[in-house]
Amino acid sequence: MKENPIGVFDSGVGGLTVLREITRQLPGENTIYLGDTARVPYGIKSRETVVRYSIEVARFLTKLDIKLLVVACNTASAYALPELKKRLRVPVIGVIEPGARAALRATRTRRIGIIGTQGTIRSNSYVDEINRLSGDETKEVAERGEKHFDRYFEIKTGKMVIFTKACPLFVPLAEEGWTSNDVARLTVEHYLKGLNDEKIDTLVLGCTHYPILKETIASVMGKGVALIDSAESTAIEVKRVLNEKGIGNDTGSPAAHRFFVTDSPERFIQVGRRFFGEGIKDAELAELEAP
Ligand code: DGL
Repeated sequence: MKENPIGVFDSGVGGLTVLREITRQLPGENTIYLGDTARVPYGIKSRETVVRYSIEVARFLTKLDIKLLVVACNTASAYALPELKKRLRVPVIGVIEPGARAALRATRTRRIGIIGTQGTIRSNSYVDEINRLSGDETKEVAERGEKHFDRYFEIKTGKMVIFTKACPLFVPLAEEGWTSNDVARLTVEHYLKGLNDEKIDTLVLGCTHYPILKETIASVMGKGVALIDSAESTAIEVKRVLNEKGIGNDTGSPAAHRFFVTDSPERFIQVGRRFFGEGIKDAELAELEAP
């Protein structure tokens, strides 16, 4: 069991930011990554579709004897985690709970921002998780901002104020490698102006791609705002669960990393290097079965 791989799944290349953290914090672990590149993006799809896709991917990975599944995709974590936990025998870890926990630890002023795909923001899963962890509840929701691109939500709970905003253009920017040029900076400024004016002190990067834009986001938000990278907190949670269950790989043999995609391995390898470094030598095509 100890040598069995950790399965990591995402809609495409973005989850490599989570895999990168897992391999950094747990260098002895074997991993299998699946990017559902044929059906990316998940962020604009319905709950039903994302749940169905996630079940198909999880089934593929469990057949490869994974000892734990990491749902690196925020949208899939937001929509499909309960269903996956119900169906799988191995532990399932999503990115929402670790990110929410880290945000609660970081905030001093109790004014938190959350950014993600349209699906993640619509699902409200980060807010629900923050409420669950702090024993709080949503009291009031209001829409703020005037134009389409600067519209965001203000959610008052008993203990804090949470601002949520979908930033869909960050995904193609990160994949194109436009992370710190004028276009990236302007896009970040447009999307985050409202949250910046709200004087938040903590911002959750609730999407696999956003850590790639971290420096530009940090320079727009300013020094006083802590950026929460779900990838880092998720890797810490993986470590904790492996230790708790006694299934961490302590054999000392060199770790192997396998990559699967559902379309175009070449593009995955090329774009993936921006997210994971030179470690991706090869990617195999996966054929998923319908449930
Ligand atoms: N991986 C997705 C997420 O973290 C972003 C890309 C997509 O929309 O599929 O929500």
